[in-house]
Amino acid sequence: MNISRRGLLAMSGATAALIASAKLQAAEKAAAATGLKEAYKDDFLIGAALSASIIKKQDPKLVALITKEFNSITPENCQKWGEIRNEDGSWKWEDSDAIINFGSKHNMHMVGHTLGWHSQIPESVFKNKDGSYISKEALAKKQQEHITTLVDRYKGKIAAWDVVNEAMGDDNKMRTSHWYNIMGDDFLVNAFNLAHETDPKAHLMYNDYNNEQEGKRNATIEMLKRLQKRNAPIHGLGMQAHVGLASDMKNFEDSIIAYSELGLRIHLTELDIDVLPSVWNLPVAEISTRFEYKPERDPYIKGLPKEIDEQLAKAYETLFKILIKHKDKVDRVTFWGVSDDASWLNGFPIPGRTNYPLLFDRNQQPKSAYFRLLDLKK
Ligand code: GLA
Repeated sequence: MNISRRGLLAMSGATAALIASAKLQAAEKAAAATGLKEAYKDDFLIGAALSASIIKKQDPKLVALITKEFNSITPENCQKWGEIRNEDGSWKWEDSDAIINFGSKHNMHMVGHTLGWHSQIPESVFKNKDGSYISKEALAKKQQEHITTLVDRYKGKIAAWDVVNEAMGDDNKMRTSHWYNIMGDDFLVNAFNLAHETDPKAHLMYNDYNNEQEGKRNATIEMLKRLQKRNAPIHGLGMQAHVGLASDMKNFEDSIIAYSELGLRIHLTELDIDVLPSVWNLPVAEISTRFEYKPERDPYIKGLPKEIDEQLAKAYETLFKILIKHKDKVDRVTFWGVSDDASWLNGFPIPGRTNYPLLFDRNQQPKSAYFRLLDLKK
């Protein structure tokens, strides 16, 4: 048979297309087969913070991604005092219920966030009409009503609670929040007792940022020992892990060891790795901080350069090697969001930047860091 050159070309084109499509199918199959939660099932839970809007959108592709990759969820905002309660104190359950129903439907481990925090809570909780502070007894009563109602609603569904968030200040002394100023250590002790009495099976955590760093770690350990002396039922320690490309990940190893010596289980509760130029010396994550926008502080508007994508992958790899090494002490690693487009770091500490801190990009496609974490388990 005489095959023309044209025919040959057409055939090789068709063969190439077939091979390419087979390869693509194989890659897709491989990607579909093993998500992070499956790859890390013998190590620790893999979680993500979810916003109520993600749940409401019901985007089937996003739902498929979330349920494939993650086996634990944390509500990003909707259980904070200022979100779940109206100004008059009445409750707004809708968003929180939606996330908990999503988690129940997909059989996920769920974390409640958060029962006691100085931020995202109205001043009126702490003040009388004339602007003076309410009494310790009055605040303790509000705290009791808040914690018992919230924990009771999700009893048996929420497995672990961030009971107190960020009680340690950036000066490594107790944060002078309204909570602490009015109630002192009783703010924390009561919070843990109330949560425990309401749901004795729930795992109760203290959660903070930068507490992997030596100074804050030591101060936190002193605080935890004080609370333990008073028999506060604390079971876990959350390191939020809002870190940057330049962060020294070795701090996490030292902290995992030091905190678990107190008998606490370890959780990374809000992990993300900021890739943008730092505008402060300390990577402080105090949420009220803001800096001015300048174009040089937002260099990757058009996309993440390859070398930064690689640095991000490397930083995640370094951290996860430590976590895997100490998997006997680590219960969970939760990312603060699913994909870069929805990360709070696009707006903090400078509003309007384009950041790339997570494992999935703006089209919900896995980045190099994602594959690096899968590779660690091969
Ligand atoms: C803190 C809180 C979180 C969240 C982040 C920023 O870390 O614990 O709930 O508000 O700040 O999104």
